[in-house]
Amino acid sequence: MCGIVAYVGDKVAYPILIKGLQRLEYRGYDSAGVALINSDIHTYKCLGKVKDLETHAKGKHLSGTIGMGHTRWATHGEPNDTNAHPHTSMNGKFTLVHNGIIENYAHLKKELELRGYVFQSETDTEVLVNLIENIYQEQKVDAEIAVRLALSKVIGAYGLVISCTEEKEQLIAARKGSPLVIGVGDHEYYLASDASPIVEYTDQVIYMNDEDVAIITKDDLILKNIQNDAQKPKIQKVELTIDEIDKGEYEHFMLKEIHEQPSSIGDTFRGRISIDKTKIFLGGIIDVMPKLTQAKRIIIVACGTSWHAAMVGEYLFEEYARIPVEVEYASEFRYRNPVINADDVLIAISQSGETADTLAAIKMAKKQGATIVGICNVVGSSIPRETHAGVYTHAGPEIGVASTKAFTSQVTVLTMMAFMLGRKRGSLYDELYKQLIQELTLVPEKIKHILRSEQYIKDIAETYKDASNSLYLGRGVLFPVALEGALKLKEISYIHAEGYPAAEMKHGPIALIDENMPVFVLATKDKSYEKIVSNIQEVKARNGKVIAVVTEGDQTIKKLADHVIEVPDCHESVAPLLTVIPLQIVSYYIAVMRGCNVDQPRNLAKSVTVE
Ligand code: F6R
Repeated sequence: MCGIVAYVGDKVAYPILIKGLQRLEYRGYDSAGVALINSDIHTYKCLGKVKDLETHAKGKHLSGTIGMGHTRWATHGEPNDTNAHPHTSMNGKFTLVHNGIIENYAHLKKELELRGYVFQSETDTEVLVNLIENIYQEQKVDAEIAVRLALSKVIGAYGLVISCTEEKEQLIAARKGSPLVIGVGDHEYYLASDASPIVEYTDQVIYMNDEDVAIITKDDLILKNIQNDAQKPKIQKVELTIDEIDKGEYEHFMLKEIHEQPSSIGDTFRGRISIDKTKIFLGGIIDVMPKLTQAKRIIIVACGTSWHAAMVGEYLFEEYARIPVEVEYASEFRYRNPVINADDVLIAISQSGETADTLAAIKMAKKQGATIVGICNVVGSSIPRETHAGVYTHAGPEIGVASTKAFTSQVTVLTMMAFMLGRKRGSLYDELYKQLIQELTLVPEKIKHILRSEQYIKDIAETYKDASNSLYLGRGVLFPVALEGALKLKEISYIHAEGYPAAEMKHGPIALIDENMPVFVLATKDKSYEKIVSNIQEVKARNGKVIAVVTEGDQTIKKLADHVIEVPDCHESVAPLLTVIPLQIVSYYIAVMRGCNVDQPRNLAKSVTVE
């Protein structure tokens, strides 16, 4: 949440900052701002998106070869001009952009108020910038020392960039909990919350570690920690390309990412399934394979869509590997007193690799002796760095706030893990193992086939775009897909939607069904087929509208449902990967037809780095 970008070099900073903020806008879009540093510091900030900031700054003093920018997702204080970043200290010495939360800000603020500080905004960030200034002025130390001393008093998370009027040629950056990447150019440095604003200029990056502080001028980078111990910068090559972070011919990133799924799923299993499709090899977890194979229990922690993927994993692990699995919301798990044993394996799933609750859950389980395996998309993000082993999903950058291709790539990894563990543990016999691998490799082609029905699905969206409620039903491994379908609809179209195990409908939600209620039912041919047909009949008996996702050629449900969306015949184990696609498309078009901002839905941010 919140995006930071900064530049030090010989180029004019403003266009770099604006472009960078546009790339980071998925992290928050309540307000935006820049500070441009020359002989003076010029700060422009306003409520709204980066394009509003551009309008606001137009015609103003925009030179400066050093600068910082911020796009905000509000935590402390409503989105408005004053609460927007950058924030400048009361005596004008320091200017700061910050991503994270200063948990003890109220206490620090009181102390500063006693020293005569007056605050303009309601933000925790303004407290931090004044704390730094206060230390700088009272203790008469260098800016960098003041920053480190201030940060040692702070409880919470931060990724920040700060400039001091007395040391204008340098920027100071610090990180704890919120990501920060340094791009290394030729006599220039870039800073950003992720590599996307940087890749256009350099592929050499340094991922800052927690408690790192960087002192950067155009010709020099000093890396140390808060305690003043020197740190060795580790320069890495970033794999991201510009094409991957561009919308291309698509109107929205979400639509592009839906369409990318045949290739993103292929990328997830590429190199991990043998050419003859008889073996799965997940190199990233090889070291923990003995632990995984002998695990008494697997705990999967995640949030949101990743939690839905985790639930698919639960069904598959239990079915094929016969290992008991518990799926936990990271935010609940971390604050409970869960029983964790040394022979438990905890799998953490996260697209961004930065979700604060998931990260905290990992740290807690690690302390208690569990083996930690990560399933993440963003390479070099915080979660993979905390785990003992892991599998990257390789879905490529997901920029639309609503997760689509990240979900299917997470499910693909979990599916491979379940099959592989099943084989290793002997619960999956070789013939079936090979058949299942084969089935998985057919998924990309089958998704291409579903995508050819886009116009038909769009017409269904047109029929239901004005609904105010909707239900999603599924059984077995398709129950989490129902949850995911409901989440997709509600988060981008703001229509209330709920996912239920189909059999639970009659224990409450059935009371909601009337002729205005669209009910999406996942009803492909599997072992619960007869049961789901009965559930459809129960909805129809109450005049509900049924949109059923069925196996190609299904005649029975065609006669019952108001609409059917066909997906190619497949093995039950890979049905989540196919059935979720029409639900993503329906949600996308309903949101577009309702005039919603699909890629940046209200109140949401892509990377939830606050708890
Ligand atoms: C919904 C969505 C969110 C994320 C959740 C966890 O479309 O994207 O629910 O799944 O915030 O994020 P990650 O996977 O980055 O930990």
